Amino acid sequence: MIKINYDYSKTKMKDILKHNEKIKEIVKNFNEGNCQGSDYIGWYKFPNSIDKNIIENIKKDAEEIKKMADVLVVCGIGGSYLGSRAVIEAVKGFYNKNMEVIYLGNTFDERYTEDTLNYLKEKNFCVNVISKSGTTLETAIAFRLLKRLLQDKYGDDYRKRIYVTTDEKDGCLREMADIEQYKSYIIPKDIGGRYSVFTPVGLLPICVAGIDIDNFLNGAKEAYKDVKNENFEENIAQQYASYRYEQYMNNENIEIFVTYSPYFNMLAEWWKQLFGESEGKDGKALFPASANFSTDLHSLGQYIQQGKKDFFITQIKVTNEKEKVFIEKDKQDIDNLNYLSELSLGQINLSAQEGANKAHYQIGKVDNFTFEIDLINEFNIGYILFTFMYSCMISANLLEVNPFNQQGVEFYKKEMRKILVK
Ligand code: PA5
Repeated sequence: MIKINYDYSKTKMKDILKHNEKIKEIVKNFNEGNCQGSDYIGWYKFPNSIDKNIIENIKKDAEEIKKMADVLVVCGIGGSYLGSRAVIEAVKGFYNKNMEVIYLGNTFDERYTEDTLNYLKEKNFCVNVISKSGTTLETAIAFRLLKRLLQDKYGDDYRKRIYVTTDEKDGCLREMADIEQYKSYIIPKDIGGRYSVFTPVGLLPICVAGIDIDNFLNGAKEAYKDVKNENFEENIAQQYASYRYEQYMNNENIEIFVTYSPYFNMLAEWWKQLFGESEGKDGKALFPASANFSTDLHSLGQYIQQGKKDFFITQIKVTNEKEKVFIEKDKQDIDNLNYLSELSLGQINLSAQEGANKAHYQIGKVDNFTFEIDLINEFNIGYILFTFMYSCMISANLLEVNPFNQQGVEFYKKEMRKILVK
């Protein structure tokens, strides 16, 4: 279950209620398909309308991949990999016994690419190459290298180790899939990369990692019901969008997404892409930053406490930690830790959060918007991702920018191309 609270925020529900009328208008236009970027709102109904055959094929292919391989390489960048990686690491952590999932195609870094390819030489692996456009250079280069390695390792059998997720008709990846007869999945035309985690883009890698994709989709379906709640005071997605807008209007320029687990680092990366790429247009928007506490309390914590105050925090609080790791009583107690011996590490982590909240809010005057999650599981992660996507749609519309395009990203590609074709 997901809840929100304003406990450590001077901005309260009463302060954001004023945006309610504007939000109603945005929701009405969105529901009527009468909003900016209305060609790209397929994500909204997708978890409810996804074809059962697609789910069955994903499950079947995931089993095949697990039989054939010890490692799945997800080859993609931006929305084509961040969602699945965020879910897999949040739910399964870093030491997943079901299947190792690693990532390539999201960088030009030569050393990382070479190291990954060398690592794969010793492993049995499959590749899921994911690109909606089919032309993204980081991904295309990595795929060419991976394909060569597969051919060297498996000869003519290499084809059955490649799974393509791309547009139904357009792009060279689709052409390649058709010519080479790879198994392939479709990214619907009306769903953009950063809104695609509930399509095969996210579902295939997530399923291969051993996560229950039905439950993941159920979380999104539940959120779909809740984002439609017309009572603003019960609507988490609307309140979050409204809160962000209120902060922005009060000259807070930065939003720091704070989590208390390294397993949420990629969730933060996904969140940054979602809000950064959807909103950063026309010289507007909050800058989406992130911090991982308590680790970063020993670095950024200083700035947050006493630095320039033009930011607020959005944090995730996990209320029901597993309580499996306790500090044993020690006869000598030279490290003076016996006073913690009744507590689990989860409880200590929650105390760190409570302490940081008090210090940041009461002394540092930093506002905190808190999402409370009782348990980390695929249902709750599905719920929160969908809620963020819907919030982002509202929030971008409050800024009067199109949430679903990203023309700014093209500029570096053009400049890079000019340099490369010289
Ligand atoms: O959200 C988006 O649309 C982008 O971040 C894309 O996902 C990213 O640029 C990768 O594009 P593609 O899937 O076409 O390779």
